[in-house]
Amino acid sequence: MRAIQATQFGSPSVLTVVDLPDPTPGPGQIAIDVTHAAVGLIDLLFRQGQFKDVPGMAQPPLIPGLEVAGTVRALGDGVTGFAIGENVVSMSAGAGTGGYASVYIAPVHGVVSIEGSNVDPALVVAMIPNAAMAHVALSLVAKLGKGESVLVHGALGGFSSAFPGIARQLGASRVVGTVRSGKLETAAHTKLPYDRIVDSSELPGVLEGEKFDVIIDPVGGAVRGQSFALMKPGSRLIVAGNASGDWAHSVKTNDLWLGSTTVAGFNAGALLPLHPQALRRGLEAALKAVAAGLCDIPVDVLPFSEAVTAHERMESRDLCGRIVLTPEL
Ligand SMILES: NC(=O)c1ccc[n+]([C@@H]2O[C@H](COP(=O)([O-])OP(=O)(O)OC[C@H]3O[C@@H](n4cnc5c(N)ncnc54)[C@H](OP(=O)(O)O)[C@@H]3O)[C@@H](O)[C@H]2O)c1
Repeated sequence: MRAIQATQFGSPSVLTVVDLPDPTPGPGQIAIDVTHAAVGLIDLLFRQGQFKDVPGMAQPPLIPGLEVAGTVRALGDGVTGFAIGENVVSMSAGAGTGGYASVYIAPVHGVVSIEGSNVDPALVVAMIPNAAMAHVALSLVAKLGKGESVLVHGALGGFSSAFPGIARQLGASRVVGTVRSGKLETAAHTKLPYDRIVDSSELPGVLEGEKFDVIIDPVGGAVRGQSFALMKPGSRLIVAGNASGDWAHSVKTNDLWLGSTTVAGFNAGALLPLHPQALRRGLEAALKAVAAGLCDIPVDVLPFSEAVTAHERMESRDLCGRIVLTPEL
């Protein structure tokens, strides 16, 4: 198979196109002929070596990528419900590598058929895994109720982009996003179903006293600190990432008591393996949301040979929407 390997930890230039033996699926796994592999922030963290000291994490040479679309190539022992050649999308529910390859081995519980859905496979891989995670985060962790309001930080980021559509699907009455000031112009043209997108540097005043039932925060740092002023009694702040890189942020637990608020963590890699049924519901809901146009973002498709450019653009934040790699261009 053709693959992109990080030959060592380091800058995007460590990404190299290689030819490797085709892998075969084990029990409970599906081999996928990959047509599209999404590029995510997590791939950059793997390549940079940010997880190098975490037990069990992949070490170089490693193939980044944990979300792919393609067709079923082979089924491992015990796998039923999928046909050879069927169009599917897959997400890894664990620490994910291996996606930037023309053949990907997926655990069956993270695979959903997109046969007959007529959705662009680049958009499918860009959005379905994130939308499935958003569904689990909003339903299982935030316990979003019909008519509730949601605030999403980093509103146009890959992961965050999935939240407004899924929140709508689950009956949210209002969805507001925050972005850095440089993204306000892009925000004005987004097709994502936000009611309003505001500048995160102007929080909380820009929201003129509006408070929320659920806040989704994959960004951390200053916007996490501002979130507490935006929570209603009974509301839930879902800590779901740290794109800002601020690992020092802390929560004053007595403030949770006084405000009667909840702070909960959501980490798909930790939670989803324990909740395969919730993941299955999430994947099916995600497909419906994407097909209904609730997750419409721009997707740039680049060939495998431009993986270095893809990672450089991610690092420089020179993107609007997501980047997807394909072995076929
Ligand atoms: N909980 C989970 O299971 C889960 C699943 C997927 C991802 N994540 C996490 O979610 C985070 C985002 O991942 P992603 O794949 O969506 O990345 P992404 O597409 O690169 O998006 C990152 C978002 O964070 C914003 N951002 C970055 N640095 C910021 C800063 N200093 N201040 C304010 N905003 C900042 C970006 O804004 P700009 O566009 O203005 O740069 C962008 O909206 C990561 O921490 C990732 O690990 C968690």
